[in-house]
Amino acid sequence: MLGEPIIELDDVRKSYVIGDIEVQALRGLSLTVREGDYLAVMGPSGSGKSTLMHILGCLDIPTSGSYRLAGDDVSTLTEAQLAEIRNRRIGFVFQQFNLLPSLTAWRNVELPLVYAGVGREERKRRAIEALESVGLGSRIDHRPNELSGGQQQRVSVARALVTKPSLILADEPTGNLDSVSTEDILALFDELHQQGRTVVVITHEHEVADRAAYAVSIRDGELQDPDGVLAAAAIVPEAGAHAASAPSPTDLPDHPTSIGDER
Ligand SMILES: Nc1ncnc2c1ncn2[C@@H]1O[C@H](COP(=O)(O)OP(=O)(O)OP(=O)(O)O)[C@@H](O)[C@H]1O
Ligand SMILES: [Mg+2]
Repeated sequence: MLGEPIIELDDVRKSYVIGDIEVQALRGLSLTVREGDYLAVMGPSGSGKSTLMHILGCLDIPTSGSYRLAGDDVSTLTEAQLAEIRNRRIGFVFQQFNLLPSLTAWRNVELPLVYAGVGREERKRRAIEALESVGLGSRIDHRPNELSGGQQQRVSVARALVTKPSLILADEPTGNLDSVSTEDILALFDELHQQGRTVVVITHEHEVADRAAYAVSIRDGELQDPDGVLAAAAIVPEAGAHAASAPSPTDLPDHPTSIGDER
């Protein structure tokens, strides 16, 4: 079931100026994503995908155009409000895992709760619970270099989930993983989607995009319309076709809803 719009981008542009050179990374992008949706964003290197993800995650702001997140125009929010949104309402997953090497798995996972001011015991309990939910209950005291790449990415998914955010943003989450670990992460994302969370995954890989409810493609900072209806519906939210044309989760092929224990 898709809910209210959680992401509403209207004619978003983003330019970077370095010296005399201006790079237009996003050139007028409009997109609506509803609560509970699972969207893949595809596009070649340099097309603006990470720039888009930074804007969606309130890590950066558009040069022009508007971004409403859960109904709030982010340009009206204070830095403190944005920090709170990044910490509690959004879970980030990156290609490079971004784990702190000196900390054990559960210490990495508890970090967002430290920033959120949650007490010590509750932090540990919730960090372990999140690690168990990604199949890493027996690796809580391992440091990143004592884990496989796939396991490290599962730790970073646990870290993204520990604050129970409604929106998961993932930038090339399987870019550094082998096919077995990729499947583990995709199964986790399927599970999150089935739990009703909104998932936006940026990827080069069709295998990854195929798991989403629908995909859009960016080229040179603009949304493309690769296969007609789905992307067109996403570009024109007024048409109301977006939610209607996206296949419902039940149309998707069966995927495991939980993953096995760590290998
Ligand atoms: N901080 C920055 N300062 C200046 N230019 C930037 C900055 N970040 C990105 N760019 C430029 O903006 C354009 C889009 O970059 P972006 O990182 O969004 O691409 P991408 O689609 O994520 O590429 P990739 O698939 O390689 O990760 C590129 O031309 C890039 O050089
Ligand atoms: Mg990128």
